[in-house]
Amino acid sequence: MGSEREIVLAGGNLTRVVRVGDTVRREAGPWTPSIPRLLSHLRDRGFTLAPEALGIDELGREILTFIPGETLTEGTWPQWVWSDELLEEAVTVLLDYHQRVADFRPTHVESRLGTEPLTTDQIVCHNDFAPYNCVFREGHIAGLIDWDVVRAGDPRWDLAFFAWHWVPLYAPSSDIAWRSLDVCRRRLRHVVDSYGLSDRSEFVELIVARVEASLDGIITRASEGDEVFIRLEREGHTEEMQRTIDFVRENEKLLNDALYH
Ligand SMILES: Nc1ncnc2c1ncn2[C@@H]1O[C@H](COP(=O)(O)OP(=O)(O)O)[C@@H](O)[C@H]1O
Ligand SMILES: [Mg+2]
Repeated sequence: MGSEREIVLAGGNLTRVVRVGDTVRREAGPWTPSIPRLLSHLRDRGFTLAPEALGIDELGREILTFIPGETLTEGTWPQWVWSDELLEEAVTVLLDYHQRVADFRPTHVESRLGTEPLTTDQIVCHNDFAPYNCVFREGHIAGLIDWDVVRAGDPRWDLAFFAWHWVPLYAPSSDIAWRSLDVCRRRLRHVVDSYGLSDRSEFVELIVARVEASLDGIITRASEGDEVFIRLEREGHTEEMQRTIDFVRENEKLLNDALYH
């Protein structure tokens, strides 16, 4: 085992992830023991897209199954990522995850983001379900990874994050952004319809709140001296998020109307 080669995997921003044979090893933290419980629950409930937890290695790192396929790293993403078919498939995966995680009821949710109680109206949200955390095979979702930043929340919190990154609702100045608000409106509608969201009031506001939460999280952790978050700030992620907030706010009425008409 000790002699097996470690390959650093690209594409992540937060965690040092290496591949060893057909496993990945994720750097450990106080949250490490709790993630396998969630992953085992998902297996038991028939959710097969998450990696399987295989224990802890000799360096204390989490061992997970390596999901073969393609992941999206820095740079331009292939055009098929933004097809309506894949959007629909991704919403189905999110909904399926929400249904299967619903009866996972730890008293507290522990992750890289800290520990918080899980109230009866909340579920364990994946909290980072974006194209960059999917493994693809032949243009279909073959895996959902990066389970270290889960948190307790209303399912709509996860859906808001999902809409942000899958529509996507990035500012027009971003490299990957629709240049047409109409496309954003249509795809946003597609997300809520496919998910079957009944209460659409304040959903656009919730998207803004979700982006703000990510932005505040980076700023707070960077100000506390956390190197990873200082780097994210330096690389312009916070500015990008602020531009998204401005873009969604400026178009709030039109985006909101699109949820109903
Ligand atoms: N179980 C897995 N199977 C296949 N690839 C993985 C797996 N876990 C992580 N990776 C690869 O490692 C990269 C970083 O992992 P990720 O869990 O997304 O960490 P980060 O928190 O840094 O974003 C991913 O983009 C992917 O390429
Ligand atoms: Mg990731």
